[in-house]
Amino acid sequence: MSIKLTDVSYTYSPSTPFSYEALKKVNLEIKGHVFLALIGETGSGKSTLVQHLNGLLLPTAGTVQVDHYLLKTEGKKRIYIDLNKESDKKAFKKRKQFDLKELRKYAGLVFQFPEYQLFEETVIKDVAFGPKNFGADDKKAEEMAAAALKLVGLDSSYFERSPFELSGGEKRRAAIAGIIALEPKVLILDEPTAGLDPQGEKEMMALFQRIYEAGTSIIIVTHNMDLVLKYVQTAAVMSHGELLKIATPLSLFQDEDFLKNTAIEPPYVFKVALELKKKGLNLDLNEVKDIPSLVSQIKKAGESK
Ligand SMILES: Nc1ncnc2c1ncn2[C@@H]1O[C@H](COP(=O)(O)OP(=O)(O)OP(=O)(O)O)[C@@H](O)[C@H]1O
Ligand SMILES: [Mg+2]
Repeated sequence: MSIKLTDVSYTYSPSTPFSYEALKKVNLEIKGHVFLALIGETGSGKSTLVQHLNGLLLPTAGTVQVDHYLLKTEGKKRIYIDLNKESDKKAFKKRKQFDLKELRKYAGLVFQFPEYQLFEETVIKDVAFGPKNFGADDKKAEEMAAAALKLVGLDSSYFERSPFELSGGEKRRAAIAGIIALEPKVLILDEPTAGLDPQGEKEMMALFQRIYEAGTSIIIVTHNMDLVLKYVQTAAVMSHGELLKIATPLSLFQDEDFLKNTAIEPPYVFKVALELKKKGLNLDLNEVKDIPSLVSQIKKAGESK
């Protein structure tokens, strides 16, 4: 999996009094198998950025390259090139209209409000829509949909229900299943756990962890630093439309000078661990992910005295 953003800027409603530059020359390179969190204050541009990764938004300036798919704007023309296809290179020269279906399959995006992604009469039809759109016959598409629904924890009793009658959390699961059924190489989730109860949040994160371990990269937008500490390898920090920093959660949460100028608060469990370490307890901060792991680190440090 590879994503490269080069000097990406994005302005909402350009040339109007409401014009707003939501991304400012963002440079970001992500390669390989990743579990990454995009974090930063409200309005910092996270949702705007992730919508560039599957071509839902096209940069006002700069280039977005997702694997061999390249998106950019030249003058007033918006350009899409499949670098693996000679014909698309020609299309680029001729400035033809483009079809982003393959990119959307490669980079599956679950919106911040995924209920807007649901539209069919039944849950199973909704989830089967994607695979069908990519050529699976009805039976195969429903099989793929059923597997994706089971994976997100919606059993067959949900299949024939209207997606609009589900609870908020269930709707979110159905929308996620719709994207998983496309078998994307990278699954991008914009605040997938917002509003879930702690158990629902835990299950959701365990699901992403399984998907990640099965070979799909995960990019998650979140305000929850406990989740960042526990699950992700890399955190990308945004503020006021700029990408400020990419770091491991461990180094980010220790970087007090950097954090004091941001709205990011390290998780309590990490702060406690850091204080204990400063007081001389020999903790391995790498191993502190949550309360149980902190407790076992404290125990270990005590035993080795
Ligand atoms: N459709 C739009 N038209 C005009 N401005 C917009 C639009 N969508 C977002 N913005 C503005 O762009 C900026 C970035 O918004 P964005 O939704 O990317 O932030 P975010 O980091 O995802 O915030 P949150 O954490 O609250 O979801 C904000 O100031 C927002 O008001
Ligand atoms: Mg957002």
